[in-house]
Amino acid sequence: MSEHSANPSAAAAGRPRAVKAVIPAAGLATRFLPATKAVPKELLPVVDRPVLQYIVEEAAQAGIGDILLITGRGKTSMVDHFDRRPDLEERLAEKPDLLAAVKRTEELAAIYTCRQPEQLGLGHAVGYAESHVGDEPFAVLLGDEFVKPSEPLLPAMLELQARTGGVVLAFFEVDPAETKRYGIASVEPAEAELTDIGEVVKVTGMVEKPTPEEAPSNLAVLGRYVLPGRIFDAIRRTQPGSGGEIQLTDAMELLRTEGTPVHAIVYRGTRYDTGMPLGYLQTVVQIAAEREDLGSEFRKWLAEFVNSDASGGRDT
Ligand code: UTP
Repeated sequence: MSEHSANPSAAAAGRPRAVKAVIPAAGLATRFLPATKAVPKELLPVVDRPVLQYIVEEAAQAGIGDILLITGRGKTSMVDHFDRRPDLEERLAEKPDLLAAVKRTEELAAIYTCRQPEQLGLGHAVGYAESHVGDEPFAVLLGDEFVKPSEPLLPAMLELQARTGGVVLAFFEVDPAETKRYGIASVEPAEAELTDIGEVVKVTGMVEKPTPEEAPSNLAVLGRYVLPGRIFDAIRRTQPGSGGEIQLTDAMELLRTEGTPVHAIVYRGTRYDTGMPLGYLQTVVQIAAEREDLGSEFRKWLAEFVNSDASGGRDT
């Protein structure tokens, strides 16, 4: 588990950086059925690690050592992935690389868990974190997307939240024709605030899945949030919204209309979306192609395959 200290600007504002993260992972994952009938989408492998491990690594890399996993029915195997396996470790005594890979999963962070008994929405799931998190700010990382480790997003978000004390989101730019798949924000420039990984904007509103005509921008909400503890009270006051679910977006919007500042970083780095088959495949190919141990062999095979008849890549 890694330690970190509050950064100087946050300390000047008298606010510490968030040190806990919540990973809501209780959803039904309908876009990936039937694979996800018995296997949580968070445990689908990207090369040799489950998606969830990349996400926990992203949090740990940002100095977060305390992670609450919100799980649901049939999802306890997610927690097992981070548990100790003395029997396996004993067997791997002669295989130091594998042993280190297995032990690494146990050492990334302290993992806590709680259950969302009914899937009533992302906001409802986050509400279950209240007794673990208390009044302090905390990060939320959705369990089906992650960013490239060399282009980290979370540290800048944590720092910005410590400065503003409000809600901090992250956006990525989408093709304007595709706004219907995402939560889309309306924004205005924030005064001269810059980060290494993207521009900071002030959020003036959010719309769930607008048509291109209705969309106020092409900035889509990425699955990373840093929230103040008062979000829990806002969730309690939030009525079911889109899809009959208690939406985190609606709770954040309630805070914003009551005066809580909401900022976002427009992320310019690489984001991997593993929540549905196409994005998952693209993620596996990209990560595999970049791996030091098997990347060069895989890239060579991939190039040959793409140009072969077998791939359908040639005209017939
Ligand atoms: P999604 O909208 O991606 O839903 O939820 P989903 O169930 O995971 O997948 P699809 O859309 O049916 O394919 C966003 C995040 O919120 C969590 C999910 O696990 C996911 O990480 N979530 C959603 C919950 O924890 N509980 C809920 O009731 C809803």
